Amino acid sequence: MVKEDPARSRIDYPYIRLSEGIQNMAKMEERRLVDNELVRTGIDGLDKVLGGGIPRGRCVLVMGGPGTGKTTLCLQFLYNGAVEFGENGIYITLQESPEHIRKDMLKIGLDFEILEEEDRLRIIDYSASAYLSSISERVVGYSSESFLQMEKSEEMAEKFGNLIKSIKETAREIQAQRIVLDPITGLMFQEPDPIMRRIKTHGLFQAINETGCTSLVVSEARVSEAGRDYQAEEYFANGVILLQNFGERGTVVRGISVLKMRGVAHDLQPRPCQIGKKGIIVFPDEKIFSEKG
Ligand SMILES: Nc1ncnc2c1ncn2[C@@H]1O[C@H](COP(=O)(O)OP(=O)(O)OP(=O)(O)O)[C@@H](O)[C@H]1O
Ligand SMILES: [Mg+2]
Repeated sequence: MVKEDPARSRIDYPYIRLSEGIQNMAKMEERRLVDNELVRTGIDGLDKVLGGGIPRGRCVLVMGGPGTGKTTLCLQFLYNGAVEFGENGIYITLQESPEHIRKDMLKIGLDFEILEEEDRLRIIDYSASAYLSSISERVVGYSSESFLQMEKSEEMAEKFGNLIKSIKETAREIQAQRIVLDPITGLMFQEPDPIMRRIKTHGLFQAINETGCTSLVVSEARVSEAGRDYQAEEYFANGVILLQNFGERGTVVRGISVLKMRGVAHDLQPRPCQIGKKGIIVFPDEKIFSEKG
């Protein structure tokens, strides 16, 4: 008969309990970190303005007028995600063709094709040209009459359903952790009915949220900032980043501000930014307008 060693059991028992406790605490901490984790954009200066980054798994709106740098910011977020942080990404384009995007990004040193070849990044093309070319064979020209015909087309609904399916499938296939949709306003063109547009906007947000990815959704500010109307997507999103071009003494100064970011203590000031050969750079400690003004 093997005698129990009382000394050993006395030591093992608390040891096991303690190690379990430590393991559980570590798991809880891990979960807490994952829940509260901030996903870095990797864009110079922007993470500081964001208070660390974007809350993991949340959806943030990137708003701004034409040419303010929305697409550049979003593509850098995806590129840095794949290259610096090992997070695969999906870019859903509702406006520009994938060819234009690849070319523009190469100009700022971001080689998207390599990432696509390695299946770390995929582009889902829902751009107007791709969209229209698939139904244009049956429609002669792009007259207002033909748009009305398209509006009634079941094909439009089917294509939208396919987009939702494709987002989910692609996210699963490449285990994506970042998604960009650029721009949600593209739906305006593809969905003329305001109620349907709102339903579709909600559907898109829901589909993106369900993937668990951290996402940026581009929205074009339709009117100038002062007294502008809030848009449905601003309420759906967990955060809003605003890009603006300010005119100062005959020159244009680019600015970026975080209007909201639920659960994060972020900078409220608009900060200057620049777009150059390395894409967008933010200056988190500088002010847009000089004190002397
Ligand atoms: N290599 C570069 N060097 C300097 N500036 C650049 C460079 N590439 C882009 N830009 C500037 O960035 C602007 C376009 O940025 P971007 O396409 O990201 O803006 P956007 O807000 O997405 O525009 P849109 O509303 O048309 O979609 C250009 O108008 C140009 O001023
Ligand atoms: Mg753009």
